[in-house]
Amino acid sequence: MSTTSAEQFDRKARRDFARFGKTRVYQGELLRHPVYTRFLHWSVAIFFILSLLTGFAIYSPWLFRWLAPLFGGGPRTRALHPWFGLVFEIFFLFQFINWFAPMVWTQADRRWLRRIKKYVTNDDRLESEDVGFFNGGQKLYFWAIAVTGVLFLITGLLMWFDDLVPRWSVAVSYVVHDLAALVMLGGLIIHIYEGTAHQPGTFRSMIDGTVTEKWAWTHHPAWYRAITGRDPREAYERSKRRQVERERKAENWEREQDPRERVGDDRVP
Ligand code: HEM
Repeated sequence: MSTTSAEQFDRKARRDFARFGKTRVYQGELLRHPVYTRFLHWSVAIFFILSLLTGFAIYSPWLFRWLAPLFGGGPRTRALHPWFGLVFEIFFLFQFINWFAPMVWTQADRRWLRRIKKYVTNDDRLESEDVGFFNGGQKLYFWAIAVTGVLFLITGLLMWFDDLVPRWSVAVSYVVHDLAALVMLGGLIIHIYEGTAHQPGTFRSMIDGTVTEKWAWTHHPAWYRAITGRDPREAYERSKRRQVERERKAENWEREQDPRERVGDDRVP
């Protein structure tokens, strides 16, 4: 498939899926992930996790034998694993097409990587102004899935059809397949943390498809600027001023309610 026909296919799929599922964008919110993207993400996630769980049971029955009964016992777990993997690969291929454009590596991502310590320690209240739809870390995760996806496929097929290929290629495949799985497991743990606890407001983008404007100008300022035409720094300053104003009003109100602060009130104890 050429790039343009892949793009055309992707655009049509977005339109078709938009007819099945709705995405409501309320005031103060922005559309982040359309229905098709959400469908692909959760299909990839489900089949990746099924592959991971069945893979664990095969990799180390000593540690993970408790997983096998979930899939109908040891032999069935072994039989299901390559099929789960294959379905994961197929869904990821569509996700790859869907996300290829925003995942292209840029100078901004190189700069993001240099600032990674600040990102991890939450030093900055706002992301740097050049961070677009995805940041460098998200792009790295995506490309790690793409590379390990190819490795999983090649080594998986060699192990699946081990009677048709040389022994050494099967032996190498075991090592490469397991190393790729470990890299992906580490990546997934970080990914889940980033998509939930580290950045509140991110998870909903994969559920109802939207994020708040505040989330957008905080974590992806260049994307915010591109779709709203507004300045993320100005939006931040405005929100800070409003917050200070709200706090001041709340303090005044509390003071008014507190009888000890009322001048000349003789009911004060
Ligand atoms: C099961 C728990 C998971 C949760 C809670 C989760 C959550 C999310 C969320 C909220 C986003 C959107 C981030 C944004 O818009 O900035 C996202 C994006 C993404 N997800 Fe997941 N995800 C999960 C599993 C997976 C799995 C298993 C894979 C693939 C193996 C995956 C691959 C991706 C990729 C490539 C992206 C785009 C880049 C990124 O945001 O890191 N996710 N995920």
